Amino acid sequence: MSLQIEVVDPYDDDALAAWLHVVNVADEFERGDATTFWTFPEIQVVARNPRKSLKEVHVNGSVDGVVVAAGQVRLPQLDNLSAADVEVSVLPEHRRRGYGSALLEFCEGIAKEHGRTRLDAMTAWKYDGPADGAGTSGVEFGKVHGYVFGLGDVQREVTLPVDDAVLAELEAEAAERASGYELRTWTGPFPDDDLLLRYLELSSKLITEAPTGDLDYEDEAVDVEAHRIHEEVFAKQARTIFTTVALAPDGAVAAYTDLMAPSHDTTHVYQWGTLASREHRGHRLGLAVKVANLRALQATGQYDGRRLVTWNAEVNDHMIAINERMGFRPTARAGELQKKIS
Ligand SMILES: CC(C)(COP(=O)(O)OP(=O)(O)OC[C@H]1O[C@@H](n2cnc3c(N)ncnc32)[C@H](O)[C@@H]1OP(=O)(O)O)[C@@H](O)C(=O)NCCC(=O)NCCS
Repeated sequence: MSLQIEVVDPYDDDALAAWLHVVNVADEFERGDATTFWTFPEIQVVARNPRKSLKEVHVNGSVDGVVVAAGQVRLPQLDNLSAADVEVSVLPEHRRRGYGSALLEFCEGIAKEHGRTRLDAMTAWKYDGPADGAGTSGVEFGKVHGYVFGLGDVQREVTLPVDDAVLAELEAEAAERASGYELRTWTGPFPDDDLLLRYLELSSKLITEAPTGDLDYEDEAVDVEAHRIHEEVFAKQARTIFTTVALAPDGAVAAYTDLMAPSHDTTHVYQWGTLASREHRGHRLGLAVKVANLRALQATGQYDGRRLVTWNAEVNDHMIAINERMGFRPTARAGELQKKIS
């Protein structure tokens, strides 16, 4: 039976819901209890609100009118212009019939049409699986299609709230070395464009400053307008972002961290990026901003019982040691894959 492939119309709720169903079921099959489901209202906003920094295409593959495969192509618009992010999922009972390959070829075609020559992909599996993903559907499928395993990541979780005594201890430890820096915490959009610009000058480097293994990535563009558009999208998605920055005496953002608390998914909170700039390393700033941000989130009293999820490169010993002290435990693995085409 051949696969009918169609780009999803962002205003077709049924097609979008079918796409999301495949993505979530396929992910749960691979990651089990560690799955972090996407919610329909959130994906609806993403599909319908063009962003300056990213063009996103969703693709459905159907058999007999039923969507059994879902693909996604993400095309950066301001940086990494030779790259595209490609993801393919197939419902477990429809695998090994060539559907994944057919959909991948279609998605790669979209990337090529946009002149992209570097294809990035990510695939996740349970923590007790092998670190290199050998034998997992995503890594094996990737190998067959020319994707090289570049970096292994580990998902960790802790149930909120993290013990106040532990946070107080970590805070005191950070304070010994971080004096001279001012910590500022807020929720929602950046208070002003100037601070946002200083934040972007650092956060744009996260992609290359965090361990990258054998992967090629470029820094993100520093673009205030693009970030403001992201903030509007987060608001429409009913996501609350908690941000803490450490400001150096000259006003530079020396470190930052972001937490994302969704409203449509009431079981998780996500630790997003944390980075201390090279010039300001050695002052425990990463620890200082993380603890302050988490304290602010916990002080709302709204997130007790949720699972706080974080991802780190398996080799990021420093960040992992901090996370483990906060009680994070490993729950899943992922591989970042890359393929070069001409
Ligand atoms: C990876 C995935 C999309 C493959 O879908 P599929 O429809 O089974 O793929 P295909 O039938 O086209 O498989 C093509 C080849 O890939 C390899 N392959 C696929 N799944 C495999 C597995 N579980 N173990 C070993 N090899 C596998 C095989 O060589 C297969 O050819 P064969 O069946 O003739 O042996 C599907 O397993 C899935 O949704 N996994 C979870 C999401 C994911 O990790 N996606 C990949 C990241 S982009």
